[in-house]
Amino acid sequence: MTGVVDFLLTGAGQLVTAGPGLGAGPLGLVERGALASRNGTVLWAGPERDLPDLPLAPDAVRLDAEGLAVVPGFVDAHTHLVFAGDRADEFAARLRGVGYEEALAAGGGINRTVRETRAASDAELEAATAGRLVRAALHGTTTLEAKSGYGLTVADERRSLEVLASLAARARVEVVPTFLGAHLIPAEFAADRAGYLDLLEHEMLPACAPLAEFVDAFCDRGALTVEESRRVLEAGRRAGLAPKLHANELGSTGGAALAAEQGCVSADHLLYLEPEEARALAAAGTVAVLLPGTSFLLRTGRAAPATVLREAGVTLALGTDCNPGTCYCESMQLMVALACVHGGLSPEEALLAATDGAARAVGRGGRAGRLGPGSACDLVVLDGHSYLDLAYHLGVNLARVVVKAGTVIARAGVDEGVLAPDVEGGPPHGD
Ligand code: NIG
Ligand code: FE
Repeated sequence: MTGVVDFLLTGAGQLVTAGPGLGAGPLGLVERGALASRNGTVLWAGPERDLPDLPLAPDAVRLDAEGLAVVPGFVDAHTHLVFAGDRADEFAARLRGVGYEEALAAGGGINRTVRETRAASDAELEAATAGRLVRAALHGTTTLEAKSGYGLTVADERRSLEVLASLAARARVEVVPTFLGAHLIPAEFAADRAGYLDLLEHEMLPACAPLAEFVDAFCDRGALTVEESRRVLEAGRRAGLAPKLHANELGSTGGAALAAEQGCVSADHLLYLEPEEARALAAAGTVAVLLPGTSFLLRTGRAAPATVLREAGVTLALGTDCNPGTCYCESMQLMVALACVHGGLSPEEALLAATDGAARAVGRGGRAGRLGPGSACDLVVLDGHSYLDLAYHLGVNLARVVVKAGTVIARAGVDEGVLAPDVEGGPPHGD
């Protein structure tokens, strides 16, 4: 092994490598672990007693985990980060029994956030999005997928992706952008659904595809049909985007089968899922992105069926779904906990889904979400001696130190440089 080490972690009571070959069990667990990296890439990870004598750069970052648990930086596989306004009143109404679909049908829901997002200035939209990105990082997220989808005009969808590109350029969090012009047929096209899809295909995609990696559609009751979603995914693929799909969140609507048919990289939500649909996803190599915050907060008592997914051998991923309607939350720690207590996953399955599985769901498999040679040096020192604390020690921020590409970006919930200051020299981020 060659190269000067510029980041050295020692004293990890548990080091979760989440990759093959390094440690024990499904998490690749190493007791008394250490890790060395250079230029943001892990060179070596393993038991500290085996740490090779590597040349250390004079200004190397040295981190003593003091016996605490260390996990890969979380990968949030599904967020709707770019929006303005909020829907706290709809949330309160849901607590009184008004369903999510009722609010949507009454002109609230996504349509309302679309109105508020269109009305926001560029600076307001970017500041709101930046605040959410920073909060995610403070909770240990080092890679995050983010969707457009509250613009639904050519200019507003493009603007959402520009906000993400601008943040990605100055964030020490990797942002994976997804075009979700098919979040809903906007109200003004209610009588001409095909007209909106024509616009999406012939004007939005050419404007947006250069700024995105994935195309997604909300294929569900009250949103897009299977046929409409198929058209969007096929057009997106022709524009160079890899497909993802919101599937089977509100009903058994054929979305999961469409995701398998289209070879989607991921199928997300899956609250309603039959065994044959799960087997089709496994055969297609489609990752199931589970969003336990959303299933919890929809208050239907329903979660994605862990047993069905497990038996079919589908790769599992987790995301926050951070959005103003169904789950306003940036914390992947809470998602791990909910996946266990509400979603039926074991702590090991949940943590693997929040790291290696989520990385696969966003096209970063093997690089993000693992801690082994060749992977990104993205990690979280937890405020606890075991990864089990993520599910057990609930509702507090357990991210003691967050490292992205070998750089400390947060300590004890305090921002130490998630975003570089913007060119105008203004504050690093707004909340
Ligand atoms: O994933 N399902 C579609 N999108 C979001 C909800 C968006 C909203 O209500 O604003 C979701 O649950
Ligand atoms: Fe979503």
